[in-house]
Order: sequence, then C-alpha cells, then structure tokens
Amino acid sequence: MSVHIASTTAPVNIATLKYWGKRDTALNLPTNSSISVTLAQEDLRTLTSAATSASFERDTLWLNGKEESLDNKRTQDCLQDLRDLRRALEEQDKSLEPLSQWKLHIASENNFPTAAGLASSAAGFAALVVAIAKLYQLPQDMSALSKVARKGSGSACRSLFGGFVAWEMGEQADGSDSQAVQVLPLDKWPEMKAAILVVSDAKKDTSSTSGMQRTVHTSDLFKERVDTVVPRRFNEMKEAIVQRDFPRFAELTMRDSNSFHATCLDSYPPIFYLNDTSRKIIRLVDGINAFYNETIVAYTFDAGPNAVLYYEEKNEQKLFAFLYHLLSGVDGWKSKYGDEQLKAFSDAFSE
Ligand code: ADP
Ligand code: DP6
Ligand code: CO
Repeated sequence: MSVHIASTTAPVNIATLKYWGKRDTALNLPTNSSISVTLAQEDLRTLTSAATSASFERDTLWLNGKEESLDNKRTQDCLQDLRDLRRALEEQDKSLEPLSQWKLHIASENNFPTAAGLASSAAGFAALVVAIAKLYQLPQDMSALSKVARKGSGSACRSLFGGFVAWEMGEQADGSDSQAVQVLPLDKWPEMKAAILVVSDAKKDTSSTSGMQRTVHTSDLFKERVDTVVPRRFNEMKEAIVQRDFPRFAELTMRDSNSFHATCLDSYPPIFYLNDTSRKIIRLVDGINAFYNETIVAYTFDAGPNAVLYYEEKNEQKLFAFLYHLLSGVDGWKSKYGDEQLKAFSDAFSE
C-alpha cells in the first residue's frame, strides 16, 4: 500500500508588535493586529514531515521524539480544515487518491527550546500546516494557509512569510479576514539581524494561551493597550519598516515589549515572564544606545525570559563588544565569534 510523504521547515517569527489577547478563543481571533520578523530558515526552525496512507489506523503526532496527544481542539481544527481543502480537490478531480480520508502520521522537531518563549508554537504550527498542504498538493496561497495555521496558534500565521510580516486582526466574526501579509521582504532590508539570548530553556509555567486570556479578563491596562496604543503603533511600525528607519523601528519595538510585559504584570494574579537576567539585558541595551548616542539595538521579549535583539549588521561589532562583557563568563555562552575576537571588539570600544 502506498505511503505519501512531504516535509518542510518553518522558521520562528519574533513579534515586534505583540499579539496578546483573543476576541474569539475558538477561532483564535486576536484583539489587535501584530507585526513580526521571521528569522532565517537556518536559525531557529521546526522540521516537520507528514505521511498518509490507507493503511494507517490513527492520526499521530511525534514532537521532538515523543508522542504528543492529538486530542487538543486546535490541532484537530487545523487537520480538519486541511482535509476539507483536500476533499474539495478530490471532488473536482475523481482521479485523485482519497488522501482526505486517510489517517496522518506527523513527526516534528524543533531545533531550539520548546514552550520557552521562543515561539515554538509559531514555527510548529506553520510547519504542520505547510507540510500537510504540500502532502495534499493544495493550491491555496500563503495568506489562505495562514488562516489555517492561525487556528493552531495565533502567532503561527506570521511564520508562513519571510521578512517583516503583519497579522491583520480582521473584522469578520468568522475570521475570514484575519490573516498574515508580508510588509517587506528581508532582502529589502538585508542589514536587519537578530541575536537570540537564551536566558532559560525551561518550559514556561504560564502558556501563552492561558496567560493572554488572564490578561484579557483581569488587566485594566490591557484596554488602553488594545484600544489606543497598538492601533497607532501598528501604522507607525509598518511605516518605519517600509522606510527602513532603524531608530524608530527599534524604539517602537522596545516600547511594545515593555507595554506587553506591563499588561502581564497588571493581570491578576500577575504573570511574570521576565526575570533578573532579562532586566539586566534591558538595562544593557539602554546603556549601549546611550553610549553610542544612537539607537543601534532593540530588545524584545515574548512570553518568556529570553531576549531577542534586533540590530543592523553594520553595528554588529559595536553590540557584541558589550555582550561579551555581560556574557563571556556565563556557562554555555557561545557565539559565532571566538572569545579572542570578541575581546578585540570589546577593547576597541572600551577607550
Ligand atoms: P512558545 O513560546 O514556545 O510558542 P507556547 O506556550 O505558545 O510556547 O506553545 C507551546 C506549545 O506549542 C507546545 O506545548 C506544543 O503544544 C506546541 N508546539 C511547539 N512546537 C510544536 C511543533 N513542532 N509541532 C506541533 N506543536 C508544537
Ligand atoms: C508573546 O501565538 O503562542 O509571543 O495563539 O494561544 O497559541 P496562541 O498563542 P501564541 O502567542 C504569542 C504571544 C507572543 C506575542 C506574539 O508572538 O505576537
Ligand atoms: Co507560542
């Protein structure tokens, strides 16, 4: 009996304007539009293979070598949508094999910490949807598939595009206009780089899904954020990206990370994603920008303590000179530069 297989990788995306809050939990519709940068494929990514055969007896998902339950409604919704799209093809072309009726075996692996605030659900569900769409040979474009990925995890819709991506919240109750679109491809701003500082690879104690609902229901600050602050910032940030205005992009990114974590703290009971090391990194970034009297680096933190720094490649040495001071003594510290070279950067800027 024949087995059909397809594989894909999907990169992580890290929001610079955060999605935090759902207006519809069943369809994963957000309370605000958001913006992110998709990292390069060779950095943080999920690799997913999907197979289907008439002989398979049940759907299975293996995540990082362990079988995961497929009971959760959001994964089921994604699989259902993909099967519906495939069924429509089979109805048009009777010569196609009935893949929509067969069970699926899915194997997925993240090359970075899962559920630690580094957007594993984003890369994970993007890869799941694209792998199965490939397996089913679906003709839908990425924006259409982004609506399916969105149902798995909201942030996943943005990982279907490279570069700078917006998730437009949409207005429709059925979610038909809540999808991702590309704002700018990375090759239009190739200088943009991200450095990931893994503060902790431990699984977070409050998942994004439950954390954001607590914020929606209990935070007073949150109302101001979604009604006033984010809609304004959404347009400003898109403009800064299109104009490749790094200082403006950086300031908006840092302010939005601060605003998001403030609503977490304003939730009741409060949610703490940042830790002392995260706060040290915030102070360091402020210090670096003050030292050079120019905004050359931005920090942002998702729902976890790990930092993502955005900077332009021309400033890499200026940034790493400072990171060296903070991190060279830390266990597990590694960078693409050797310690010697970092020390040389550092000495060059320490006069
Ligand atoms: P993160 O900050 O890493 O996105 P979340 O709390 O949003 O954390 O989501 C973590 C959950 O996403 C995991 O517990 C798992 O259910 C799901 N997930 C992560 N990676 C994958 C993957 N490769 N395939 C399918 N689901 C995944
Ligand atoms: C802080 O997309 O992980 O990373 O839709 O419930 O799966 P679910 O949540 P998720 O939330 C991401 C929150 C964030 C900000 C962002 O990525 O925009
Ligand atoms: Co997530």
